[in-house]
Amino acid sequence: MKTDVFAQRHIGSNQEEQAEMLKAINVNSIDELIKKTVPKDILLQNELQLAPAVSEHEYMDHIQKLSVKNKLFKNYIGLGYHPTITPGVIQRNILENPGWYTAYTPYQAEIAQGRLEALLNFQTMVTDLTGMEIANASLLDEGTAAAEAMILLFNTRSRNQKKKDALQFFVSENVLPQTIDVLTSRATPLHIDLVIGNHETFEFSENVFGGLVQYPGKNGKVVDYTDFVKKANETEVRIAVAADLLSLTLLTPPGEWGADVVVGTTQRFGIPMGYGGPHAAYFATKEEYKRSLPGRIIGVTKDIDGNRALRMALQTREQHIKREKATSNICTAQVLLAVMAGMYTVFHGPKGLKYIASKILNHTYTLNSALKDLGFEQVNKVFFDTLNITVPSASKVKEIAELLQVNFLYNSETSVTIAINETTNLEDINEIVRILTKATGKNFTEIHELKEVDVKPEFKRTSDYLTNPVFNTHHSETAMMRYIKKLERKDLSLNHSMISLGSCTMKLNAASEMLPLSWPNWGNIHPFVPVDQAQGYQEVLKGLENDLNEITGFYATSLQPNSGAQGEYAGLLAIKAYHESRGDSHRHICLIPSSAHGTNPASAVMAGMKVVVTKATEEGNIDFEDLKEKAILHKDNLSCLMVTYPSTHGVFESGIKEITQLIHDNGGQVYMDGANMNAQVGLTNPATIGADVCHLNLHKTFAIPHGGGGPGVGPICVVEHLAPFLPSNPVVKTGGENAIKAVSSAPWGSALVCLISYGYIKMLGAKGLKSATENAILNANYIKTKLEAEYNILYSGENGFCAHEMIVDFRSFKAKGIEVVDVAKRLMDYGFHAPTVSFPVAGTLMIEPTESENKEELDTFINALLSIKAEIDEQDFHDENSVLKNAPHTQQMLTGDQWSFNYSRQKAAYPLENIADNKFWPTVRRVDDAYGDRNLVCSCEPIENYIEA
Ligand SMILES: Cc1ncc(COP(=O)(O)O)c(C=O)c1O
Repeated sequence: MKTDVFAQRHIGSNQEEQAEMLKAINVNSIDELIKKTVPKDILLQNELQLAPAVSEHEYMDHIQKLSVKNKLFKNYIGLGYHPTITPGVIQRNILENPGWYTAYTPYQAEIAQGRLEALLNFQTMVTDLTGMEIANASLLDEGTAAAEAMILLFNTRSRNQKKKDALQFFVSENVLPQTIDVLTSRATPLHIDLVIGNHETFEFSENVFGGLVQYPGKNGKVVDYTDFVKKANETEVRIAVAADLLSLTLLTPPGEWGADVVVGTTQRFGIPMGYGGPHAAYFATKEEYKRSLPGRIIGVTKDIDGNRALRMALQTREQHIKREKATSNICTAQVLLAVMAGMYTVFHGPKGLKYIASKILNHTYTLNSALKDLGFEQVNKVFFDTLNITVPSASKVKEIAELLQVNFLYNSETSVTIAINETTNLEDINEIVRILTKATGKNFTEIHELKEVDVKPEFKRTSDYLTNPVFNTHHSETAMMRYIKKLERKDLSLNHSMISLGSCTMKLNAASEMLPLSWPNWGNIHPFVPVDQAQGYQEVLKGLENDLNEITGFYATSLQPNSGAQGEYAGLLAIKAYHESRGDSHRHICLIPSSAHGTNPASAVMAGMKVVVTKATEEGNIDFEDLKEKAILHKDNLSCLMVTYPSTHGVFESGIKEITQLIHDNGGQVYMDGANMNAQVGLTNPATIGADVCHLNLHKTFAIPHGGGGPGVGPICVVEHLAPFLPSNPVVKTGGENAIKAVSSAPWGSALVCLISYGYIKMLGAKGLKSATENAILNANYIKTKLEAEYNILYSGENGFCAHEMIVDFRSFKAKGIEVVDVAKRLMDYGFHAPTVSFPVAGTLMIEPTESENKEELDTFINALLSIKAEIDEQDFHDENSVLKNAPHTQQMLTGDQWSFNYSRQKAAYPLENIADNKFWPTVRRVDDAYGDRNLVCSCEPIENYIEA
């Protein structure tokens, strides 16, 4: 074994195991398998042109050298991003802990109670601090959260507003510039008319349906919006507020002055700035909008024994499930970051948060009075953390500040904004004053004492918050460490066993890829610093873009979208802009196969397109004749086709080139959903199949961990003619020369986690990447062969092979009363997370093992499924008390005095011999979704409040 070859660490099976698997599937070599799986006309003839692979040790050295090219200035830029202190206990036990970062979205609630509780804490923190009734478990960033708020208010317009076709949405000029840009990109396709202006002079008319204000404003001004909201409500207009959550520990929260929606970021709750992200945005609103709320909501329910249990609530309300009727396309969000922000609050508690906020206020106030004494004009009468100072020459201030490695925000030649943060101390305040006095020729006098101040009574928060015991208990490090561990133990993550989720590619997230994320030179960079201060980042991001261009065969890449669905949206907007640039604005039809993931139609609708669904054949392929008929029918208005390749059925459709040609012949563009890119890298690519644009899920194929439901990065890669339309940013220039507006708040989206994908490609190199793809296909076909004798495997390519995943059909067991969920729950007793349930075909499991699992793990999983098949065969018809129906079995149930089942305890918990060695205990029994949806509770409450006796 070559210990310095990363591919051998990333790919689970060694050569002997690979040979055994090849034998089992009856092919002589990997080459033969690939030739029989990937259609000949799309198989790449040449190796990818990438830099040779480096070892893990060499990579650490390389990324360390790059990190010092990022200059660690003191940052007072603000605009929604602030230096913060990540408590060590959270960094070590969550951010750096695979028990947390490798978890999947908590669809299998019984083995996800830990992160569900952490997310419930997050929601409670948000509702408490904002003064609202309900919050979701995170959105992607503040800009997109504000856009979701606008769209919620649009979709829930009053009957009168709908009748009058009220399309205007007021946006205060004090809203962050990046938020305004994202709002513009979201408003345009929906024909919403943004009116940007001053809230004091704005006149509401019946054309206005909603508005957005920032609290405190972008330059730090704290305004009393009570009259504004009252005036709005008098004309049925509802107001959303983008609020700084930390400031709400001191200031009256928007929920108390009548806001309908409150959004923002939780970045300053211990999440590194990371040159733009990832950070969790929050979204809070009133109960009455719970069914329109975008994103996932965690709710309380009970299990079948009546014990308290958590799960994702109102799942049928999840937007992408509504497909073309969706009002949002959000799927992956920012779970890991929401968990961290929630834990920051658990650790500090209400008193700790108030202390931090007051410390910030005191430092800001101290700075303000020093500047006042020196004769500076400071514009904000009321402020929390940000001062807006008038200066004779902002360029002079900038010159001196940068020499001292300090960044302020320069609004104009006479205005400098300074945002104070959790890390600021008196020495920093003195340095700021020194810079300003030097730039203006005034005399510096040192400040020796911090002034203590309180918020003015008319703005002061009087209501309690964070009173739940969880926020008032775990304040010592020992207690906090144990609380985090207690929750972690309830969750099954990749550090326990394989999570073979079809369409999700839960592969290794290598420690070497993750380590640099904790380094200050990557974490503490503000997204709006001058580009020359972030040269390390620029090299990584440019390098990653180039590598992704090579891998996809495309011309250019934008890393801005923060998830796959946001990539879809950005790609479709680029297509739209391209058609418009050619005078083809009328091209608005988007063809989408019926088997597509729900985000595809949802994104198309958000991009203002009309979705036309095309049929699938019995074999699960695109029905070419139906597609042809529809492409020709709509040829004058055809915008594009959205196609997933290999298909969502896990097959390399051989007719793909014919399909893409058909679309081009009829004037359309081809959008490829890259969720299944793990079957393509190094073997074929989107450009070769004839696509024009694709998104990649870096959080699937390129090793960014799933984080329990985010972060994600969904870059779009495009052909040359679409490159001019790649998205921009209003503060730091990015994108093409005819760029569409921003789709995320930060110029390069979640730049920090792009390091992971960068490292993945650098350490695998062309050969390793190709080998990873080949092994992903080998592993899937091995499982398929082994399961075929007992199960019906749906769909395969012309030679009988699947791509990197397969669909196992459980529908025939329905006659016996067995549902696919029974199998999913029973797998927990065997120590496994279920594969993807009922997507893309109801009543099936879609299994995607990835290349990172070794043969031993695959065999353990296969044996579990075969053993379950024997249990299905044994089970009496419609036995509601069988081992399958009762799954999963908890320790509490097994060790109880009563055992009234006609199978043994051993069979319940240890159905196979190997399980005892690595037993995982679900902590609750099957959860009752319907009960929780009927009695919706989405924040921490004493248990007796909602469980019936
Ligand atoms: C085929 C497919 N397309 C799109 C998406 C959406 O990606 P994201 O969750 O990153 O928004 C998914 C997510 O699982 C998917 O499986």
